[in-house]
Order: sequence, then structure tokens, then C-alpha cells
Amino acid sequence: MSTLLSFRDVWVEYGDRIVIEKLSLDIEAHSFVSIIGPSGAGKSSFLRLILGQEGPTHGSILLDGIPLAPECGPDRGIVFQRYSVFPHLSALGNTILGMECARAPLSARLFGAARRAAKEEAVEMLTAVGLGDSLHLYPAQMSGGMQQRLAIAQALVKRPRILLLDEPFGALDPGIRADMHVLIRKLWSDYALTIVMVTHDIREAFSLGTRVIALDKRRHDPHAPHRFGAVAVYDLPLKERVEQISDERVSITID
Ligand SMILES: Nc1ncnc2c1ncn2[C@@H]1O[C@H](COP(=O)(O)OP(=O)(O)O)[C@@H](O)[C@H]1O
Ligand SMILES: [Mg+2]
Repeated sequence: MSTLLSFRDVWVEYGDRIVIEKLSLDIEAHSFVSIIGPSGAGKSSFLRLILGQEGPTHGSILLDGIPLAPECGPDRGIVFQRYSVFPHLSALGNTILGMECARAPLSARLFGAARRAAKEEAVEMLTAVGLGDSLHLYPAQMSGGMQQRLAIAQALVKRPRILLLDEPFGALDPGIRADMHVLIRKLWSDYALTIVMVTHDIREAFSLGTRVIALDKRRHDPHAPHRFGAVAVYDLPLKERVEQISDERVSITID
């Protein structure tokens, strides 16, 4: 196992509000890290740091041992709970646009052979997420589960090494969610991804993750609620796939 991402004494502050304090941890390549924690704990901020959308106030984040540039790169993709896709584009259009933004950042247009190649890759990725028969549908014509499949295709078509998921299945019905779990596990393995997934669902965190990190404040000052930030209050490496862990053992409650 090799370290892909390193957080070294990372702090995130907004004015006098401390959101994350003194966070140091390493993320192994090809791991599946589940992040849990109460609302406002800084889970999305943690993902934004990895995405490069935001830099830490103090400390550093290293990718392959090199400080992460504070910009989004094609090696990292993200899927949100909702609204990751553009409503005015078909499934195919959305997926091609994902590539155009990465390969032609100024014009966001590809032409000729480059566009044909992009289209082929988009069709392949849409097929991989189970939307091979829905290339020409628009998001409004799709169920919530299909829209999330599309959002995943749009993120993965850039061939990122790191896939960030921010409560990606939170709005889906339980049956659809189970299908998405099967899909994400397959994509994780087929594309050798490193996944960092924020979830409110403890069972999902344990059943998908190879490691579960709980972010929360360890100290509270009732007179100054923003004085302390979140730390990793639990960091559990899971030795075995955790389908085997019975529900009683998964008894951490969050929220
Ligand atoms: N751009 C920002 N400016 C000021 N405060 C912010 C900003 N982004 C997030 N916060 C605050 O940081 C805290 C953590 O937010 P977030 O990372 O979204 O938490 P979570 O995803 O765990 O619910 C919240 O208190 C939120 O209000
Ligand atoms: Mg959040």
C-alpha cells in the first residue's frame, strides 16, 4: 500500500470560526474512505480541500508527496447529492462536457477527431454506469438514481484517480441505493480508484469503506462554539469487508 494523500497539521478557518483543526492523516492509494460526522462538522470542507477548491488556512496537503495546487485537477472528480449535472444537456452531452472541461479548459469545446474520441469514451463510461440505453435522455427525464449514475459517469470520464462523493446516495430510495452500492464498488475496483465518500448512513459507511473516519469537535466551548474545530475522533481501519459485521456492532450514532 502506498500513501496517495497526506494531510499534515491541516487547519480550516473562516474568520474566527475554526472548522477543522490540526488534522494529520494519510490516505492510501486504492482505499475507500468513508467520512461520517454531524452536520457542520466540516465533512464537505474536507472534500473541498482534496478537490483543491479551497486551500487549508494552515498546514499542507500532499498528493504523491507533492503539495496540492489550490486548483481542481483532472485527477480528482466529485459527485454531490444533487445537481451535479446540467439540465440542458443530454446524458451524452453532460458526459462529453466533463471531458471538454478537462481537455480544452479555455473553450470547453472539442472538434473533429478529438470530439469523436470523446464521444466514444463518453458512451463507454455511460455504459459502465448502466446508462447505455439512455444516452439521449435529459436529466429531467431520468429518475434520481439515473441522475446520480450520470453524475458519476461525468466525474469518471475524466479518468480521475480520486473520486470524491458528498452524500451521493442520500436522496435515493433504499432499493436504488443498494443498486448504487453495487455499482460504486464495481467502479472502485474496475478503475482502481481511491474513493473518499461522505455519508450520513453509518451502515453504508461501514459496508463500502475500507476505513471509516468520524469528523467531530473533540472540545466544545459553550461560550464560543466556533473556537474549536473538528478532528478525526474515530479512524477505524476495517480489516475485512464489513458485510460480515453485524448491525449490533455498528452502534456509533451520529446526528
Ligand atoms: N465559505 C464559508 N464561509 C464561512 N463558513 C463556512 C464556509 N463554508 C463552510 N462554512 C462553515 O464551516 C462549517 C463546516 O461546513 P461543512 O464542511 O459544509 O460541514 P458538513 O459538510 O460536515 O455539514 C459549517 O459551520 C459551515 O457553516
Ligand atoms: Mg456537507
